[in-house]
Amino acid sequence: MPPASRTSPTRLLLVGFIVLIVATGIAFALYRRAAAQSEDWGAPANIKSAANPVPPTAENLAVAKGLYSEDCARCHGDSGKGDGPDVSMYKTKPSDLTTPRIAAMQDGEIFWKITAGRLPMPAYENRLTETQRWQLVAYLRTLAQPASPSDGDAHGP
Ligand code: HEC
Repeated sequence: MPPASRTSPTRLLLVGFIVLIVATGIAFALYRRAAAQSEDWGAPANIKSAANPVPPTAENLAVAKGLYSEDCARCHGDSGKGDGPDVSMYKTKPSDLTTPRIAAMQDGEIFWKITAGRLPMPAYENRLTETQRWQLVAYLRTLAQPASPSDGDAHGP
């Protein structure tokens, strides 16, 4: 009997099927990891380029300031410097939200980061309404300082 006849077509099909499932799983996991680790935290293009629908009125900024004190300051600090009281609890340091790097980010990109979170930062998708998250984007704009013309290096010290 030739060796080929010992491998039944059903068995071959089954092995092929398993290989396909495993390969798809690995590809998907790698994609998810790359997206999550990317600089924009895998923000979908349509969200990333969205402009803030909430205007930075005194009222919106006052509401956002309250939300910030309640939800964000424990990690990011009252002034956004990333020096809140809970900082020592986490391995990943909360970002300094006052840097030119943040000032240069698109509204939608900041909105996405607040929405999706990235551990240890929680996702705020179900903790805050969309309006509240946009109010926070407007508020963060008041904390982040754009690069000054003399400042050649946009990254911190
Ligand atoms: C438990 C601590 C914690 C809380 C609470 C928290 N953050 Fe964060 N935040 C972090 C950490 C840590 C990072 C950096 C994560 C990383 O780079 O992987 C971060 C990153 C960010 C970034 C992205 C900055 C960058 O470097 O790209 C923004 C924007 C942000 N936080 C806003 C907020 C806002 C607004 C709130 C409140 C609604 C908030 N965070 C609450 C810990 C926290």
